[in-house]
Amino acid sequence: MLSLRHLSRVYPLKSGPYYALRNINLEIAEGEFVSIMGPSGSGKSTLLHILGLHDSEWEGEYRFQDVDIHRQSKAQRSELQKKNIGFIFQAYHLLDDLTIAENLEIPLTYRNIPRRERQSTVCDLLDRFQMVGKRDLFPNQLSGGQQQLVGVARALAANPKLLLADEPTGNLHSDQGRTIMELFQKLNRESGVTIVQVTHSAENAAFGHRIIRLADGLQVGN
Ligand SMILES: Nc1ncnc2c1ncn2[C@@H]1O[C@H](COP(=O)(O)OP(=O)(O)OP(=O)(O)O)[C@@H](O)[C@H]1O
Ligand SMILES: [Mg+2]
Repeated sequence: MLSLRHLSRVYPLKSGPYYALRNINLEIAEGEFVSIMGPSGSGKSTLLHILGLHDSEWEGEYRFQDVDIHRQSKAQRSELQKKNIGFIFQAYHLLDDLTIAENLEIPLTYRNIPRRERQSTVCDLLDRFQMVGKRDLFPNQLSGGQQQLVGVARALAANPKLLLADEPTGNLHSDQGRTIMELFQKLNRESGVTIVQVTHSAENAAFGHRIIRLADGLQVGN
């Protein structure tokens, strides 16, 4: 599904260049469910944002589904992202002035799905995540955990081939967290969605097939 070769992410700081990621090499096959672990500040979110094509200021090579991302324009990357990738952010990133239903509809509008179909998908999602009663509320009218659930639902809305999740259960009660992990496992097994999640929890990591460990921007064994 994707591979990274000699990938680094450097922030030019006043004190000198700071390597948030240094010489990362990794391969993730289609249908894998991988967990990224490591201490705070080790580069996990940085890596996930690069995989998700949110960040393009890196060095090295990134190949995604037979496409050399390092040779693609910004517009081409954005197109690939909208078609293939669902992203669950560490901080929910819902749009505050849109309702829950409208937030869920965003990834579908990116894909030119007709209005009627979009609305029926949104209804299904609301139903599946037991949020039907919240459809016309705004994100700030929901609890942190509920907003996180909407974030998960939104990432799944357009049936991504690659699901990237940054601490998807971080703000959830342990039961809700488990539900999300079971949902990921089901999606991965039944629909073949490739999943890369960042987690601090060994219990969550165990739902995946393998663990990629980072420390100080370096990969420290698989
Ligand atoms: N815009 C930036 N400018 C400078 N340094 C940055 C910037 N963004 C991130 N960093 C640094 O890069 C490092 C990695 O950050 P990152 O957010 O990837 O950590 P993380 O592993 O996700 O941590 P956490 O578990 O706390 O979420 C940190 O030391 C951070 O300070
Ligand atoms: Mg992070």
